[in-house]
Amino acid sequence: VSPYLFKHKRRNFLVKDTLRPSDLDALQHIEIRPTDVFLITYPKSGTVWMQQILVQIMDAAHPEQAEDGHNRTRVPWLEERTADNPLRERPDPRIFGTHLPADMLPLGVKAEQSKAVYVWRNPKDILVSLYHFAHTWVLLETPKSFEGFFQQFLDGEVYMGSWFNHVQEYFAAQNQLNIHFVQYENMLKDLRGEVVKLCAFLEKDLTGEAIDHVVKMSSFNSMKTDPKANYKDLIEKGRYLGETMRKGVAGDWKNYLTVAQNERFDQVFRDKMSNSPLTCTWE
Ligand code: PPS
Repeated sequence: VSPYLFKHKRRNFLVKDTLRPSDLDALQHIEIRPTDVFLITYPKSGTVWMQQILVQIMDAAHPEQAEDGHNRTRVPWLEERTADNPLRERPDPRIFGTHLPADMLPLGVKAEQSKAVYVWRNPKDILVSLYHFAHTWVLLETPKSFEGFFQQFLDGEVYMGSWFNHVQEYFAAQNQLNIHFVQYENMLKDLRGEVVKLCAFLEKDLTGEAIDHVVKMSSFNSMKTDPKANYKDLIEKGRYLGETMRKGVAGDWKNYLTVAQNERFDQVFRDKMSNSPLTCTWE
């Protein structure tokens, strides 16, 4: 199958050889354990970063199970594979990554009250990061122009659909899920503080030294040269055309959005989020 975006329950998924539309519904019924941990994001919100943090926390908390593999195999991607993905056969506590919207998660996540970590980020920075990623990941259509991509993002006509819906639906579901929200910008400001909160949520009692190690291993510069964390092997495999550990900062949108685009974005934010407690508080 050559890759293409298709709509399923209002969201845009990417069909590839490892994911077909029928797999998405089958995913709702996979076996979930109370010990499972879910890393949930809209694309470009800090997924790979949180993957590294979770892996480092688990290695510190369960040293007898520490592994040497790539984060991609240690945190298997839910919607990357078919429902009988052998990567799921991992020792507990398993960690899964997903971009699935709240109503498409495996039903067991709610039923078992498995822990879920939701990372979110300034959508303007996500837009810029996704714009670059669309030039990097060979499966995504290369945008013809920034302005065109900007409009597509506001309309939710991009990979994984509308950011506005994704975030709002998870905030609306927070009383039904066992979910911890982490903001990308707060990790930039105080990574250690966020790791400490995360350990409390995950009920992992790490020493101060172990926490320092998690923080050190999860810095942008450390990850950029860590082959288990940085996905550079996908460049060699021809799946990425360049690095996805790009800048790792807040506010890069200011280098891309015009004043008019910024005003339009803020207006769309106010309109789409009018029923939500979330406000556009990013710089
Ligand atoms: S993906 O493809 O959806 O999994 O992408 P995702 O990992 O969610 O987001 C990629 C952006 O996260 C940045 N990143 C980091 N920022 C700060 N510190 C660390 N350690 C880190 N690791 C990854 C990465 O650079 C992408 O953001 P941009 O703005 O493109 O640089």
